[in-house]
Amino acid sequence: MYIRNLALHNFRNYEHASLELSQGLNLFVGDNAQGKTNLLEAIYVLSLSKSYRTVRETELIRHGATRASVRAQVAKMATLDLAVVVSEAEKKRLLVNEKSTTANSFVGCLNTVLFIPDSLQLVKGSPGDRRRFLDVQICQIDPVYRSNLLKYQRVLRQRNSLLKEAWDHRAQVNQLPPWDDQLATLGAKIIRRRQEVVQTLQHYSRAAHETISDEREELSLIYHPFFIQDENDLREEPYGEGELGSILAKTIKELRQEEIRRGYTLVGPQRDDLVFRLNQADLKKYGSQGQQRTAVLAYILAELELMYQETGDYPVVLLDDVTSELDWKRQMLLLSILNEKAQTIVTTTNLGGFSTEMKERARIFRIEQGQILP
Ligand SMILES: Nc1ncnc2c1ncn2[C@@H]1O[C@H](COP(=O)(O)OP(=O)(O)OP(=O)(O)O)[C@@H](O)[C@H]1O
Ligand SMILES: [Mg+2]
Repeated sequence: MYIRNLALHNFRNYEHASLELSQGLNLFVGDNAQGKTNLLEAIYVLSLSKSYRTVRETELIRHGATRASVRAQVAKMATLDLAVVVSEAEKKRLLVNEKSTTANSFVGCLNTVLFIPDSLQLVKGSPGDRRRFLDVQICQIDPVYRSNLLKYQRVLRQRNSLLKEAWDHRAQVNQLPPWDDQLATLGAKIIRRRQEVVQTLQHYSRAAHETISDEREELSLIYHPFFIQDENDLREEPYGEGELGSILAKTIKELRQEEIRRGYTLVGPQRDDLVFRLNQADLKKYGSQGQQRTAVLAYILAELELMYQETGDYPVVLLDDVTSELDWKRQMLLLSILNEKAQTIVTTTNLGGFSTEMKERARIFRIEQGQILP
């Protein structure tokens, strides 16, 4: 799939911008604070229905305006018209072919993979960073997963507030069992799906890693469910949903008193992690910067293949400021791999880092103070 054209109105520092994109490589060049990241953010909002930079959506509205919108025509089997309208006075609107729709049917219309300097947190960051990566990915390809995840988050909030009160008001404990059941049922579905996806990502990221690394090391991605204490006990084959349900139910019983003492939920996929290993050594603890970067790139490329496998279409790739995080060799390798597969939208402060061949192939735009110039 690819974005044919894009229009922004009062989005961040853009008053009005509209542009036609190339199906292949698009390079956006501009100095700092001109609107490069804002543009990628706009595309991301069209993909995920919300920003990765802020939870306060009115921030997306240009200072002085009251309403922001992003629109795009996306070419896939059929052409889709997508729009997101954020306004100060009304609820956000998501439109597909001019019709308002729910986030669950909106997400998945335009699939994207985002790579920003912060993406290196995938290896270096917290378990929460890694779960977010996985969830953003799976939500785009699986609306059932997305809806289970939202239900799960509600269950978790309810259960946490009961647990918080239970220490002082013991009667609240009697209200826990229905929430325990839901936690176990939904939690099992979430863990099961994440494990499957990690298995697929491992398959593709190994192959990508071989292509982009000169070394002969083997990359492994292993899902780490909360109930495994010792990393040496992790296994690659996914657990069955029934098996997971039983483990969750059993652990809920075992940790009941501890959960009441601490006042929050200790069981479930919100405590899971993803482990990256290079030749069996934990990449987070032992990997060099270069090794960690290569692994993240391999993962990004694997995300592309996963989406292709699940949806029959490559996503649009958004790369923000790659020059700052990847050396020249890795950049060129990445762009040439992407070039054959996916529409790629790259921002940079400096075209000097790109080969002549790459510049000839690309459509190049300049961004100056919220204006996009061809
Ligand atoms: N709601 C808004 N209304 C108006 N301007 C905004 C709004 N939100 C952000 N900006 C402005 O947008 C500019 C930043 O744009 P952006 O983050 O896209 O820069 P950039 O080109 O990616 O820069 P860098 O190279 O430093 O990453 C800043 O000048 C900021 O003040
Ligand atoms: Mg930026």
